Amino acid sequence: MTPSEKIDELIKKINFYNEQYYQNSISEISDFDFDNLLLQLKNLEIQHPEFMRDDSPTHRVGGTVSQGFASVKHKYPMLSLGNTYNEQDLADFDERVRKIITEADIEYICELKFDGVALSMWYENGVLVKGVTRGDGVSGDDITNNVKTIRTVPLKIATKNMPVSFEVRGEGFMPLSSFEMLNKEREDIGEQLLANPRNAASGTFKMQDSGVVAKRKMDCYVYQFQSDDDTLFETHEQSLSWMVEAGFNISPTWKKCTTLQEIYDYINFWGVERHKLPLNTDGIVIKINSFAQRRELGFTSKSPRWAISYKYKAESASTPLESVSFQVGRTGNITPVANLKPVLLAGTVVKRASVHNANEIERLGLRIGDFVFVEKGGEIIPKITAVDLDKRTDATVAIVFPENCPECHTQLIRKEGEANHRCPNEKGCPPQIKGKIEHFIQRKAMNIENLGTETIETFFRKGLINNPADLYDLKFEDMISLEGFREKSVNNILAAIQKSREIPFKQVIFAIGIRFVGEGGAERLASYFKNMDAMANASLEELKQVPDFGETTAQSVYAYFQETENRAFIERLRTAGLEFKHEEQEIIIEGNALEGKTFVISGTFQHFERDDLKVKIEANGGKVLSGVSGKLNFLLAGNDAGPSKLEKAQKLNVAVISEEDFLKMI
Ligand code: IVH
Repeated sequence: MTPSEKIDELIKKINFYNEQYYQNSISEISDFDFDNLLLQLKNLEIQHPEFMRDDSPTHRVGGTVSQGFASVKHKYPMLSLGNTYNEQDLADFDERVRKIITEADIEYICELKFDGVALSMWYENGVLVKGVTRGDGVSGDDITNNVKTIRTVPLKIATKNMPVSFEVRGEGFMPLSSFEMLNKEREDIGEQLLANPRNAASGTFKMQDSGVVAKRKMDCYVYQFQSDDDTLFETHEQSLSWMVEAGFNISPTWKKCTTLQEIYDYINFWGVERHKLPLNTDGIVIKINSFAQRRELGFTSKSPRWAISYKYKAESASTPLESVSFQVGRTGNITPVANLKPVLLAGTVVKRASVHNANEIERLGLRIGDFVFVEKGGEIIPKITAVDLDKRTDATVAIVFPENCPECHTQLIRKEGEANHRCPNEKGCPPQIKGKIEHFIQRKAMNIENLGTETIETFFRKGLINNPADLYDLKFEDMISLEGFREKSVNNILAAIQKSREIPFKQVIFAIGIRFVGEGGAERLASYFKNMDAMANASLEELKQVPDFGETTAQSVYAYFQETENRAFIERLRTAGLEFKHEEQEIIIEGNALEGKTFVISGTFQHFERDDLKVKIEANGGKVLSGVSGKLNFLLAGNDAGPSKLEKAQKLNVAVISEEDFLKMI
């Protein structure tokens, strides 16, 4: 292969992984391998500048700017860091620094490298005015409303020596506990799982609905202070202390080091301890402490010369694949699970790894008996990263994906474009039946708390329940005759079932378990259609009008209501007395002062919550829209109203009114 062909091939590969990572939230390759590809490309471009392409990924700082948010140019570009992987690289970095800083002692601050997404946050007179993603390093997305949902990001600070205008930067992340919960929910509604907390964080911060972002309990560690005034702090350490005082969330894991040995000790210490933290970390960052020295060292085009990162190598172990089991999920998805010879990895014994689907088996080229590499890249479930081909023998056996469901023996199906094989026997396949009932009773659905997995199992085995509607036919006598059931527990169950009849309509929609309809989707369906019949009889086109509904979700809801059996199930729930109407329908008409007028609500208000304002507007004959357009009558702007909305309203000559103006109108 000629160098020019090699360059083309590397660019193609890097672009492929980049796209997968940023657009599809999948990473099939470790950071180490990815950086290695970039390095190979960089070296080739240095050797053959004549083949350097204008669109080479080496020109970019990383990331992409996504659609749908206003773009904000960073006042100071958001650069990336050079990566190192061993002690020698670090010694080289230290030597480069000492060649430039010859006159003074050098202090480093070592910090953990948090694995999330970089955020820039601007404060004016102590008030958080903007939160922006890194984007392409030059401009990012204005995600202020999403950043404001992070509880540890102060919305307002009041402290001594506060510059009028300053920026802090930090890493926004999804805590591991939130990530686990989110993936559990996704699995529950049959959605593809998110690859890791970093992708989950980047996807979450780019959501249009800040309410959903808030539910995901995002967090942020701040690691940098910036302002135009160079005289405020002499060292990074001083800026960190000030930021702590001002109420910013600074991870206390940083340390000042003056020798390379101290840095290596820090690396080794956190190499083990980092696994106990509530978030993923993938390395450490070594920064010069003195700001004067930082200015002297300056920047290259992509990264500062005063800082470098050290990446931990993902811990991996090699072990034989003994067998593969196939598990059936609530929605009928079949997941292959690799049974491994137990092996110690990052402090825990690993026996199993998920292989996701048939494509993954093929991609890895897996065979039973193969030695496989398992990695815990921070994810909770370890994954198989590759087959150790050097150790492959003739004794390995191909993995045969079953044609029939391992639980109910129905023939499996695999729809075009879907990665998963599924068991279509929704109504007769035991794990699917039990899964549906468990989904139905969960807190966010019908909230029938007194029923646990074991009770469901017992009731199912005894033939008392075969689908969620059967719960409403359960009788005292049925249960009391079962072993281990006393009068009190039976009465509690009956009381909880009775109480579930008052559960709001949106939770009923979530509970019935339509594929791809999560809590948020159910809520939007409820407020769009207002009642069960309107939703059940909606056309596909109408379903596509539900906010944030794509083709797949609309199709799934439509298909659900086309099935006679599902209709019968819904009728049984109706007979049982479940809530089939959306409460908002019961708006008490107060007047018609706002008849025919449209409003967009933005910001926070003194007298009303946003939802209450919506009710008030509708009660007076008005309508609430979500986006500013030329047709809009009023932008009702509270504190911290979205600047992009205000700007657009002004441009389009839409009246901007305050809460007081609004109250006068009604
Ligand atoms: S300092 C010039 N400190 O790593 C960049 N970055 O590759 C100076 N990161 O985009 C950044 N933890 O998102 C710094 N303690 C830390 C960090 C950290 C994570 C991320 C950050 C940045 C990337 C640089």
